[in-house]
Amino acid sequence: MIIYRAKDYKDLSRKAANILRAQIIMKPDCILGLATGSSPVGTYEKLVEWYQEGDLDFSKVSSINLDEYKGLKPDNDQSYRYFMDTHLFNHINIDKTRTFVPNGLETDSEKACKNYDEIIEKLGGVDLQLLGLGHNGHIGFNEPSDVFPCGTHCVDLAPSTIEANKRFFTSESEVPRQAYTMGIRSIMLAKKIIVVVSGKDKAEILKKVICGPITPNVPASVLQLHADVTIVADEAALSQI
Ligand code: GLP
Repeated sequence: MIIYRAKDYKDLSRKAANILRAQIIMKPDCILGLATGSSPVGTYEKLVEWYQEGDLDFSKVSSINLDEYKGLKPDNDQSYRYFMDTHLFNHINIDKTRTFVPNGLETDSEKACKNYDEIIEKLGGVDLQLLGLGHNGHIGFNEPSDVFPCGTHCVDLAPSTIEANKRFFTSESEVPRQAYTMGIRSIMLAKKIIVVVSGKDKAEILKKVICGPITPNVPASVLQLHADVTIVADEAALSQI
């Protein structure tokens, strides 16, 4: 596990974006695993900036996102499809037909998850997976549990996740209670993983992820078993290590 200590969020975003940029330059037709949440927003801003300066080409890149709220339409401004479009895809030359997000509108969970696993398999493996970290140690929407779930599945969101994500909605009652998420196995199969973590409120969980026991109660702790993980965190997030 490599840990890059960034001065602040801006520095973190620049460092993380540089790793993504290197990946795209080295393999223009790479498969990127992408994440939502506030942590990667600055990283995406940097990528857009470099694209606009003519320094990056996404024309051959494909992407697959970690998760989506169940029940939200793609044009709902809280859906993760909308997030990806507005923060990244609308501003770069990626072919949108090669950007994948679970179908939140599919009410049949089994079907939605099976379809997504087929897409993941067809893509043939993620080259670089970008992750954020939930306050309870979740990655994607893999919530603390007794087991590490393998493939894409439908999750009941933990009360702490609903609480953390309510800031994006008008009220807590509007936060969807379920989501589709890629499983831990799919995440762990990525060739390279990069985790962006910012802020003092993540310091305690980040310590558990890096130094604690590997347990499905802290889903991100499984990353200790991956051969190529880079954590890019700011000083505040690393303050307990
Ligand atoms: C959400 C997403 C995760 C994300 C996490 C942390 O619940 N499903 O993929 O990593 O929250 O979000 P933030 O970066 O806003 O703290």
